[in-house]
Amino acid sequence: MEIVSNPTHGQIKNAAKALKDGHLVAFPTETVYGLGADATNAKAVSRIYSVKGRPIDHPLIVHISSINQLDKWASDIPDYAISLAKEFWPGPMTLILKRSELAQDFITGGQHNIGLRVPNQPIALSLIREFELLGGLGIAAPSANKFGAVSPTTAGAVEEELGSFLELEDLILDGGSSEVGVESSIIDCTMSKPSILRPGGVTLEMVEEFMKVKLHTKLSLNTIKTSGQSHNHYTPKARVILNLLSEPGEGFIAMASIPTPKGSVRLSSPKNIAEFAQGIYEALRNGDRKNLSVIKVILPEGIGLVDAIKDRLNKSSWKGDTN
Ligand code: TXA
Ligand code: MG
Repeated sequence: MEIVSNPTHGQIKNAAKALKDGHLVAFPTETVYGLGADATNAKAVSRIYSVKGRPIDHPLIVHISSINQLDKWASDIPDYAISLAKEFWPGPMTLILKRSELAQDFITGGQHNIGLRVPNQPIALSLIREFELLGGLGIAAPSANKFGAVSPTTAGAVEEELGSFLELEDLILDGGSSEVGVESSIIDCTMSKPSILRPGGVTLEMVEEFMKVKLHTKLSLNTIKTSGQSHNHYTPKARVILNLLSEPGEGFIAMASIPTPKGSVRLSSPKNIAEFAQGIYEALRNGDRKNLSVIKVILPEGIGLVDAIKDRLNKSSWKGDTN
């Protein structure tokens, strides 16, 4: 495995060729780093599952370069989904749509829906475009972490997580820190109205404001599986405990306005919500790098991106030894 820092156009072309040849390429997106494979190549996609240690029935998001590729992968696309795509792509939003014949069981985990996203990151977009120029149709990419672990927002974190599981010709493209820092919003567009399955950078308020409707926020039907819904997700090795001040020797994450309790290890002091989201996963990882056994996090308050932060931290928090 090779790490390519600030890849040139030529190096991105080589990475696209590696994908076309069936290798894995981890790449930066504005949300988190993804572990990419040719979404039409069953063998390459199966390596994503084995490298991540991910159960085979958890569907993958296919990354495309623009809305023009949408009907290759999806069918019966509702008008509101087209409007959302036009408004928020490229961006931190994944649409769940009825799948086309191209989207096979090995991508969708056997479901009849497909997740699609156009990321807003220059290296990611250039990689997808070059891949399409080679005849590729889309890049399947989950977050580039071990199943259940914290998503990586730097190339170094990808290497730490997956480096020893990657093969010689696999690549990691290093494009610096991810800007948003939490995974994309997932919006189910298979019903008459959209509903948000996973909150992210395109927030409930943004979608409601744009569509002039009130949305379903809770997943009312359990027919669609999103891996973020199982237990023990987004978890570092340390126990994450929410809304308690830390004791000496414990890690502490809170907005900058909240002082560090005496003797604690401050892992992050964001000045605003965007900074909180951007740095949260790296802060949790730093707690593990320092071998802390407990990290206390004071959740931020508010709406918008706060929903995504709370969602991930609630899932990452310690639920007791019996879990
Ligand atoms: O921001 C992101 O979305 C990142 C970057 C790399 O694009 N990707 C990402 O992928 O977070 P992953 O696999 O770690 O999380 C995607 C979530 C999973 O919970 C998966 O179950 C759900 O999306 N998902 C994917 N396809 C789906 C589908 N057809 N129906 C329902 N859920 C789906
Ligand atoms: Mg993930």
